Amino acid sequence: MKFFIDTANIDEIKEVFEYGVISGVTTNPSLVAKEKDVSFEERLKEITEIVPGSVSAEVIATDTEGMLKEGRELAAIAPNITVKVPMTKDGLRAVSTFAKEGIKTNVTLIFSAGQALLAARAGATYVSPFLGRLDDIGHDGLELISEIATIFEIHQIDTEIIAASIRHPMHIIEAAIRGAHIATCPYKVLNQLFTHPLTNQGIEKFLADWNKR
Ligand code: E4P
Repeated sequence: MKFFIDTANIDEIKEVFEYGVISGVTTNPSLVAKEKDVSFEERLKEITEIVPGSVSAEVIATDTEGMLKEGRELAAIAPNITVKVPMTKDGLRAVSTFAKEGIKTNVTLIFSAGQALLAARAGATYVSPFLGRLDDIGHDGLELISEIATIFEIHQIDTEIIAASIRHPMHIIEAAIRGAHIATCPYKVLNQLFTHPLTNQGIEKFLADWNKR
């Protein structure tokens, strides 16, 4: 399983990219709205210059024509832009056109295996099931990853599963076990994944022993 970072913050992206573990970035309108001092297009350009892998940029339009117009403009910013489209009928119409045009897509706001299968058949490059938001309403977000991964494997579907709406490190581990191709992680959760108290204690002990020589 690969790691993407789920943020539009340039400092977070720069920092985690240096660790060598990040192969892509996802943004959404809520994350972009937090970035006050820069336009969406400028920020996307900056991100694509740092990260050579997929950078998801979401359309705001809710109708197919609007999505196609915005998506083509976003895709023109850099070759590694992936157009993020919501899981609606209009969205999938746009996805199937983008697929014919060679524009990569990430179908977002996936909450059922049926939605994931539809998005894949429309030609989505990625589907993004939202784990945390399902957990929030008392459903099992991780079970959805298992269902989608099983269906995609049985039917030899190439669309990649991005585990999204990640809330804690166990979401990441479990998503990997269940067959997600990618986890898109908030900066905070990615940092939590790095740390373990026994690692810190181990370093302290090694240094203390070393200094006793
Ligand atoms: C995915 O691409 C979304 O940007 C994101 O994971 C949503 O997460 P949230 O439920 O924490 O807003």
